Amino acid sequence: MSKPLPPIERILFTEEQIERRIRELAAEITRDYQGKTVKLIGVLKGSTFFLTALARHIDVPVKIDFLGISSFSNKSGAPGMVRIAKDLDESLEGEDVILVEDIVDTGFTLRYLLQTLSGRAPNSLAVCTFLDRNSRRIVQVRVDYRCFEIPDRFVVGFGLDYNQLYRNLGFVAVLKQEKGP
Ligand code: IMP
Ligand code: MG
Repeated sequence: MSKPLPPIERILFTEEQIERRIRELAAEITRDYQGKTVKLIGVLKGSTFFLTALARHIDVPVKIDFLGISSFSNKSGAPGMVRIAKDLDESLEGEDVILVEDIVDTGFTLRYLLQTLSGRAPNSLAVCTFLDRNSRRIVQVRVDYRCFEIPDRFVVGFGLDYNQLYRNLGFVAVLKQEKGP
């Protein structure tokens, strides 16, 4: 039997708030990429809900591709080791790329991805994240577009998981416990 799920403490962002904010962000991206085609790169699996919602409201030509990563700790238990577990299907050469993340926390994942993807000769490379927990940042990384800044609490929903569960919630919620897995 699987262990019981921690209950939700409170809703941080409702479906309506998320939808409204995504429309604003998509309008911003549409303005910034006039005359271009954007390639949205989603980081599996957390960003998929955000990416598809965002893509539907962007009013310039859009391509999408995905990559999967796995994070691990080194022997000393230090965080921040990341590798690509599933690579993109297509080349980034000459593309105007927007990397789409579910959440930027310490910044380790994003730093690794930016280093890796910038080596593939895109025409431009921007970052768009659904959530930003700036208070926990360890490495400084550039975030061009963000939906919401969040407090230092573990959150689930709209793609974000706890032990792979809760991703399908339409809203973002804080769990009734201090820290995630
Ligand atoms: P970081 O920026 O490298 O520390 O890691 C960000 C990754 O950690 C995200 O892509 C998520 O997969 C995961 N993560 C961080 N905070 C949360 C949270 O509050 N809920 C669910 N996943 C989280
Ligand atoms: Mg992630």
